Amino acid sequence: MNRKWWHDKVAYQIYPKSFYDSNGDGIGDIPGIISKLDYLADLGIDILWLSPCYRSPLADQGYDISDYYNIDPRFGTMEDMERLIAEAKKRGICILMDLVVNHCSDEHEWFKKACEDPEGKYGKYFYLRDKKEGELPTNWRSYFGGSVWEDLPGTDKQYLHVFHKKQPDLNWENPEVREEVYRNINWWLDKGLGGFRIDAIINIKKALPFHDYEPDREDGLCSIHAMLEEAKGIGVFLGEMRDRTFKKYDAFSVGEVFNEKPEEIPDFIGDDGYFSSMFDFNEAIFGRSEKGWYDAAPIMPDDYKRCCFAAQEKVKDIGFLSNIIENHDGSRGVSYYIPEGDCCDESKKMLAALNFMLRGLPFIYQGQELGMENVPFASIDEVDDISTLDEYKVALEAGLSPEDALKAVSKFSRDNARTPMQWTDGANAGFTKGTPWLKVNPNYHTINAAAQMEDEDSVYAFYKRLIALRKDPLYKETIVYGALEPVWEERHNLMAYYRKGERTLLVVGNYQREPQEIELPAMYKRVLLNNYKDIAEETGIIKLQGYQVLVLEL
Ligand code: GLC
Ligand code: CA
Repeated sequence: MNRKWWHDKVAYQIYPKSFYDSNGDGIGDIPGIISKLDYLADLGIDILWLSPCYRSPLADQGYDISDYYNIDPRFGTMEDMERLIAEAKKRGICILMDLVVNHCSDEHEWFKKACEDPEGKYGKYFYLRDKKEGELPTNWRSYFGGSVWEDLPGTDKQYLHVFHKKQPDLNWENPEVREEVYRNINWWLDKGLGGFRIDAIINIKKALPFHDYEPDREDGLCSIHAMLEEAKGIGVFLGEMRDRTFKKYDAFSVGEVFNEKPEEIPDFIGDDGYFSSMFDFNEAIFGRSEKGWYDAAPIMPDDYKRCCFAAQEKVKDIGFLSNIIENHDGSRGVSYYIPEGDCCDESKKMLAALNFMLRGLPFIYQGQELGMENVPFASIDEVDDISTLDEYKVALEAGLSPEDALKAVSKFSRDNARTPMQWTDGANAGFTKGTPWLKVNPNYHTINAAAQMEDEDSVYAFYKRLIALRKDPLYKETIVYGALEPVWEERHNLMAYYRKGERTLLVVGNYQREPQEIELPAMYKRVLLNNYKDIAEETGIIKLQGYQVLVLEL
């Protein structure tokens, strides 16, 4: 594997709308991010991924772009963005933007022109089909519910949207569309971006000609995955995009990829892969059901362990996964991966270390470093996210009571991750001087950055130590490039692995509240991390406390 400039970095995701509001309108913004760069630099962050802040009607919170060359005024100006890139650079931080090119917004010029003249140039930018009364072109269900087909306003056509109807899919088969995309990427890279996170990219290749698949719910529709399974040849588009853009700049690119086959890993993230890296979603998708969120199976500690190891095994040293505990599309990891009732500082730190020490590039989502938790929803009216609202409807239709439906979707709601960042214990958690666009998690009095930065035992302090360890010249080579070997794989509620390179490290976490004993294969030389004050040890046997995690050098 060729070594790359980004391998030893630590990345951080910002959800601009909820990070920091500089002007009191209740919406986070780019000047707000700039004012927090010192916080991020001090934590040890090198790569900053911003969820979209382009011009957008925000139907899907910016994942519906109406102008790829401008910043939405709610987030700031192009000058702000340029200043952010420059100020970040001064602190050794590079910026990634979100590349959302499976679809644009229905308020984009291209779409408006397609409505005016569906047979013209811009009609070919989208997937349009003639409208037939009482019949849809295909029976595919959109990710956010309902049919993927919607009437093209003012015409006798319908257009395809695999996400929301305000997110019409771009027709990648049209070379003009691809040219537009590459021009846009290069334009931003010329501004000094470090690269991109690449949104929903597996959807750009459709199985042609379109046809129906077996319905999988009462609604007579089928999951979009049925079509994606059949779509072949995405690599032609992805390879072309790499060659025309990222490669020339040695930019970093991380793909939102879900459905790759094991034999495709080298194509995706090997040397000269389509992307530098891709996220590991193995843990996030475990137990998910085609029926909807309400039908998902919970993930238990042993499942979590198996998912992580399976992802590692699949990628081995072919490339670099990007490891995450959470992102803007779901629950807070600590509320999701730690058994109910056990979410505390110790368990949060354990989860942090187990994930962070995996082979790959660690990504921290804003607030994760504080151990931010899911938010309690008193009613569905408190929910903003379109996906949660749809899943609530699906749960009701499946016969759940409103109470149970709310409970079921609360667990997965994307709003959990989107509540404002908790900076202080002051009004609105110090996020805004106005009224926050989404309610603040009431636990900000106890969970906030200001308090945790003062406390050397905080979750924040632990993350800082994890980051420092990854950068420690003595251990860096092993942590970044060392092989990962699971240990005691069959032990219940215990997750342990070696990282073997120049040195040998053992990472071990007791994934339960009851203590459990381990016998070390060799004496340890040094304790690199411990989320407790000491280690209960007797003649080579270590008694791990509840949720204790250790990183030992053997
Ligand atoms: C990705 C984004 C998600 C968005 C979707 C459509 O999955 O992470 O937030 O809703 O794509 O762009
Ligand atoms: Ca603002």
